[in-house]
Amino acid sequence: MRLELCSTDDVAEGTALKVEHGDLALAVFNVEGTFYVMNDLCTHGPGSLSEGYIDGDVVECNFHNGQFDIKTGEVVSPPCMIPVKTYPATVEGGAVFIEVD
Ligand code: FES
Repeated sequence: MRLELCSTDDVAEGTALKVEHGDLALAVFNVEGTFYVMNDLCTHGPGSLSEGYIDGDVVECNFHNGQFDIKTGEVVSPPCMIPVKTYPATVEGGAVFIEVD
């Protein structure tokens, strides 16, 4: 199923937006004009990754400062150990979409 998450205009370059859709809480990132989507909830605890500190393609959780690669969801820096789930994002007609089961 394809989900429309937001308008590309809603997420300025270098920022993130939290989007909730049914049971999903997602963080939509704009890294130099390319959009990436991951689960908003940090895998380490209650941190909201859309509220994290963004440096290039790395987001730092604002709870215990764990870092994730925005493009792959891989852990860049502990204390988080588990990668965060990412969703391939596409842009069409000025909107950001992901594909979910
Ligand atoms: S909750 Fe994100 S690093 Fe701990």
